Amino acid sequence: MSTSPRQPVLAVTKLSPLYMERLQARYEVLDRLHETDPVAFAAIAPRIRAMAASGESRVAAELIAQLPALQIISVMGVGYDGVDVAAAKSRGAVVTHTPDVLNDDVADLAIGLMLSAARQLPAADRYVRSGDWAAKGPMPLARKMSGARLGVLGMGRIGQAIARRAQAFGMDIAYHTRHARPELPHRYVPSLVQLAAESDFLVVITPGGAGTRKIVDAEVLAALGPKGILVNVARGSVVDEAALIDALQRGVIGGAGLDVFENEPNVPEALRTMPHVVLAPHIGSATGATRNAMADLATANLEAYFAGQPVKTPVPECR
Ligand code: NAP
Ligand code: 8YV
Repeated sequence: MSTSPRQPVLAVTKLSPLYMERLQARYEVLDRLHETDPVAFAAIAPRIRAMAASGESRVAAELIAQLPALQIISVMGVGYDGVDVAAAKSRGAVVTHTPDVLNDDVADLAIGLMLSAARQLPAADRYVRSGDWAAKGPMPLARKMSGARLGVLGMGRIGQAIARRAQAFGMDIAYHTRHARPELPHRYVPSLVQLAAESDFLVVITPGGAGTRKIVDAEVLAALGPKGILVNVARGSVVDEAALIDALQRGVIGGAGLDVFENEPNVPEALRTMPHVVLAPHIGSATGATRNAMADLATANLEAYFAGQPVKTPVPECR
C-alpha cells in the first residue's frame, strides 16, 4: 500500500516555530526555498498549492506569478498588508488570516503602553535600579490616565477591545474610522485631526497598507498637542515616523508608546534614545496562549482547504 506524498507548502518568510511545527507535522514545508535555492524552487513550483505567511510577510505579485497551482495563502496574523490580495484573487487563490483570537492581547498591550508612557514606568524602573531614587529623591510627577480623553483611530475588533478596557479607566472615548459605527457607545469624530485635537491619548489600531499610509502625519501630531501621547499598535506605516521623531524632539507631542515601526526590526536611533518614548518589539500578540491559537487557526485554514472544505477565516476581499 502506498501513502500519498505530502503536499508542498511554501513558507514565504521565517515563520513562528509554533506555526512551523504544525506545518511540518502535516506537509512538506519548503522553508523560503524561493530565496535559498531558486533552481529547486522552479522545479517544484508548478506543484505548490499553498503558501504560509506571517502578518509581516511580503507576498508580492511576482512570487504569486511563479506558482500556477496556487490556491491558498494562509497568514498567521490578522494583518495581511504585505500580501498582494488582488494578485492572489486574480489567480483564483484565497487569502486567509487569524482575526479575533489576538484581540485581548493586543488591547492589553495598548493599555500597557498608554500607562507606561503616561506614568513613565520604564524610566521609573531605571530610576530605582540606578540608585537615582536614593541620590536625587522623588521622580518628577507624571500624567494621569484614568478619566483622560482617549481617541482611537480604527474601531474594529481590536479597537473595540481597547475601548472596553479604557471604559474601566473611566476614560472619555471617541474614535475615527471611515464609516461611523452608530451601534457602539463611543463618540464618532469624522476628522482624524479633530479627533487628535480632542484627545489626551491617541491610539492607532487600523490595518496597514496603502489606505492608511502615514495618515498620522505632522498635522495630526500638532493637533494632539504638547501633553498628548501617541500609541501605535497597528503598523509602522500608518504613522509618518520622521514627523513623529520631529514632534517628539520639539515637544509638539508629550510622549509615545510604540509597538510597531516603519522598518522593523530597525528602530531609529532618535527613538531609541528619547526618554519620553516607550518601545516594544512588535509584541502585540506575543503570548504563548495567543500565538498557539493563531497557529492553530492558520493551520486549520490550510487543513480545510486540503480537505475540500470552506476555509475558516478568509480575508474580507476573498469572502
Ligand atoms: P479590523 O477589525 O479590520 O478593524 C480595522 C479598523 O480600522 C476598522 O474600524 C476600520 O474602519 C478602520 N480603518 C480602516 N482603514 C481606515 C482608514 N483609512 N482610516 C480610518 N480608519 C480606518 O482589524 P483588527 O482586527 O482590529 O486589526 C487592526 C490591525 O491591527 C491589523 O490589521 C494589524 O495591522 C494590527 N495588529 C497589530 C498587532 C501587533 O502585534 N501590534 C497585532 C494584531 C493586529 P473603516 O473600515 O470604517 O474605516
Ligand atoms: C504578529 C500582527 O506580529 O496579527 C498581526 O497582524 O502583527 C501580529 O500578531 C504576527 O503577524 C505573527 O505572525
